[in-house]
Amino acid sequence: MRDDIERVLLSEEEIKDKVRIIGRQISEDFSDRNPIFIGVLKGCFIFMADLMRNVDIRCSMDFMAVSSYSGTNSTGAVKINKDLNQDIGGRHLILVEDILDSGMTLNYLKNYLAVRRPASIHIATLLDKPARRKADIYADYSCFEVPDAFVVGYGLDYNESYRNLPYIGILKPEIYS
Ligand code: IMP
Ligand code: MG
Repeated sequence: MRDDIERVLLSEEEIKDKVRIIGRQISEDFSDRNPIFIGVLKGCFIFMADLMRNVDIRCSMDFMAVSSYSGTNSTGAVKINKDLNQDIGGRHLILVEDILDSGMTLNYLKNYLAVRRPASIHIATLLDKPARRKADIYADYSCFEVPDAFVVGYGLDYNESYRNLPYIGILKPEIYS
């Protein structure tokens, strides 16, 4: 598995330090607001688990599962595989994503949830790849900006592999081309 990685982009230590900072920042911004953190599966699972242990306020968590990708190509179409089963009206939502790439997925999700009249919707993403943005959307909380390369690890996959790498690595292009 590690032989398929061209180079380590973000080490375990770097990620840990930054996730702690973002967790503290969200805690300050949302104290007294009892937010619902909504993890977007599956890519969010490691980031969300680490982030939540650095959030020190009353809050709850839920998950949605969406699919928009096969391999490395964004289709723009988003399929909801698992929806929320609680009322979010009047609540403060924080969507937790692995990476904001074209932005199509989060743009779709934001509009999809806005119909249910939450008090606010914010976005927390581990990675932001602004070079490829197509939708007019930005992250309220972003741990790292990354270059336009296909990255895996710490929850991010290529065809369902590599999610268990403890760091973020750039995948060798020959793996996906
Ligand atoms: P978007 O809709 O283009 O913003 O893409 C969002 C989803 O695409 C993310 O949640 C990831 O699952 C996937 N994705 C985008 N770029 C990468 C990457 O570099 N590595 C792994 N997955 C990616
Ligand atoms: Mg993915």
